[in-house]
Amino acid sequence: MTTATIATLPRSIYIEPTSRCNELCQQCPRTLLSREDDRDLSFDNFRFIVDQFPVLERVVLHGLGEPLLNKELPRMIRYLKARGTYVLFNSNGILLNAKRGQELIDAGLDEYRLSMDGATRETYAQVRGVDAFDKIWRNVRAFIAMQQEQQVGARFIAPKPAVSLWFTAMKENLHELPGLIDLAYEHGIREIHLQRLVYFEQGLAHSKQALFRRSTREELELVHQCEEICKQRGIVFSAAGSATPLESLVRDFGDRPWSGCQRPYTLTYITSSGNVLSCCFAPFGHKSAREYQEERVLGNVFQEPLEAIWRGERYEAFRRDFESDHPAKQCSQCGINWSY
Ligand SMILES: C[S@@+](CC[C@H](N)C(=O)[O-])C[C@H]1O[C@@H](n2cnc3c(N)ncnc32)[C@H](O)[C@@H]1O
Ligand code: SF4
Ligand code: SF4
Repeated sequence: MTTATIATLPRSIYIEPTSRCNELCQQCPRTLLSREDDRDLSFDNFRFIVDQFPVLERVVLHGLGEPLLNKELPRMIRYLKARGTYVLFNSNGILLNAKRGQELIDAGLDEYRLSMDGATRETYAQVRGVDAFDKIWRNVRAFIAMQQEQQVGARFIAPKPAVSLWFTAMKENLHELPGLIDLAYEHGIREIHLQRLVYFEQGLAHSKQALFRRSTREELELVHQCEEICKQRGIVFSAAGSATPLESLVRDFGDRPWSGCQRPYTLTYITSSGNVLSCCFAPFGHKSAREYQEERVLGNVFQEPLEAIWRGERYEAFRRDFESDHPAKQCSQCGINWSY
């Protein structure tokens, strides 16, 4: 990768609208690790950030926290849509009531990715730390019905936002994936994503839970069956990168496995406090607040222009390490402990 590539600012970014959350997921760094202060990004600060990017093709509006908790979210989406940006985020769905749902549709959101880590109330509560399974599915059913009602005239065009289901696959919950496919299908969801577990030996984010290169024959067979069921039902079943879900669990990334990743040159991640990180894996696995600040944070947009950070010494040092045999800690595990 040459510096010419870095000459342009990224066209794809993550922005965290809030670091607050209404769940306590047992695999999430927000629950398990030291974290930034709880705060919402104001609309003015959001605009201050996105206006620094001359071109924005894609914005993911989540970080660590539940995006729907920020009341300015629809306004942020609308602002980006007026620029022609593709906008999406993951969400736990607890606050996806009729009012919020309508606001998302009206704002022109492109994708709503529902995080759902179980097919039963019990497993859901065990993994996500709150007893909200039934409520979320009621919300999703009503949201999709509302969409269908309103967009019926345009039935040859895919409804917007596209709703997909994001399942963080672990030993703990994999057995519920077939049930989840049934649930998704019944509720009108036609895309399921098998999300790789990023782990750091705490809570459920533990190597004991990992399936990447650690799946048993039975687990791989189950994933294969899920691929077949999805095919029969017309559900898109995807995984990280271009791999099929099954491939994503057994894939060999070869020598220097992280080096196939383009993110250090093409993408950046900005938290609600303005901290700039290299990607959405960067807030995973630090041992202390100090390590986070010193080794993960590459600058702060409220202290320095984004362009100065992107071309600055810390980002450059991160990229130099990335190209060496000793990348940053988070990168050193990509392709070894999980697919990316
Ligand atoms: C951190 S959340 C933020 C958005 C929102 N609160 C939600 O849960 O969808 C983004 C995604 O990361 C997933 N996630 C949480 N912990 C993870 C882990 N250890 N490994 C991989 N994905 C994880 C969540 O399930 C969710 O799909
Ligand atoms: S995964 Fe999302 S909902 Fe769960 S604790 Fe993390 S940020 Fe909150
Ligand atoms: S942590 Fe992984 S996904 Fe993020 S930049 Fe490094 S190699 Fe890429």
